[in-house]
Amino acid sequence: MDRVSTVTTPVVLVSPSPVHALPEVSRALGAEVFVKREDQTHAELGGGKARKLVPLLAEAAERRATHLLTIGAIGSNHVFATAHHGRQQGLGVWAALVPHLQSEAARHVAGQTCALEVELVPARHEPHAVWQAGVQFQRLKAQGARPFVIPPGGTSPRAVSGCAAAGRELLQQIDSGLIPRPDAIFCVLGSGGTAAGLWQALSERDWPIVLYAVRVYPSWLLGRAALALLSAGLSPRPRPAALKLVDDQLGGGYGTPTDAGRAAQALFRHDGLELDLTYTAKAAAALIESARGALAGRRLLFWHTAPGGRLSSSRDALPMPEPLERLWLHGG
Ligand SMILES: Cc1ncc(COP(=O)(O)O)c(C=O)c1O
Repeated sequence: MDRVSTVTTPVVLVSPSPVHALPEVSRALGAEVFVKREDQTHAELGGGKARKLVPLLAEAAERRATHLLTIGAIGSNHVFATAHHGRQQGLGVWAALVPHLQSEAARHVAGQTCALEVELVPARHEPHAVWQAGVQFQRLKAQGARPFVIPPGGTSPRAVSGCAAAGRELLQQIDSGLIPRPDAIFCVLGSGGTAAGLWQALSERDWPIVLYAVRVYPSWLLGRAALALLSAGLSPRPRPAALKLVDDQLGGGYGTPTDAGRAAQALFRHDGLELDLTYTAKAAAALIESARGALAGRRLLFWHTAPGGRLSSSRDALPMPEPLERLWLHGG
């Protein structure tokens, strides 16, 4: 069996991630707007996914795992981050990839993932990917390996603790006067880990901050109750912070760009932020709409979870192997 080792060094985050004002966005919206730079959580490959991988890879180490198994869409940031940080620690990485809307950005991330020493297998749809992961799990066990399964999007209760740590970081940055306390925070709601962790952290203070979680994936199962479950058990929550689920930025669906997202991308670029159209631009679009409507005159903070760091801007990508390319082009 190749690549068998156990985790030796933890993922080391750049922590705290910076917070600062967005002068151009603020000027355009006539509101004070700030950002938490979750894109800068790691020198090589940061973003919200690195937050989750800290506790996830610690758990893998506790279990003396030799391999990570996960699933995601072709071009998934989650699979890329899992592959990079997992390989950095000497773990074997296997992922089943399902078809995804084609975009240059997704193709590039897929190509970068292919450039890592990981095993990527095509799956026709999510149930097929789950089935393949089960087969691979059994195969590895039979070979004497210790596979560790990471759920889609990297979200599990343990992973959420990494996102809650990010939220607590923000609270301390406000305490120490780096930025003033916002009235509302806007983050992406994908698999839910980011929002659940942040909600947990905000609930530990009695501050009147409202968390807006902007849905980018049409999973109606992931509502308030699911987020509460995900963050339950992290610590007692006497009175949950205010949470609003925003459902109207999804547009044509997961990965489909919207005009509001494109406008948000263009505006935030004036302050040097690079938003992606699948996730962060939709959350920023919700912030813009609120700043011009229900939250006019309020102080807002944007939770910027897009991957940053050296690898995110690198051109190092390989063509996808033929079976993945076929899946990408023809859906199977
Ligand atoms: C850039 C980016 N932001 C936010 C999210 C969503 O985070 P979560 O899955 O924790 O809801 C993702 C998930 O893939 C992402 O890639």
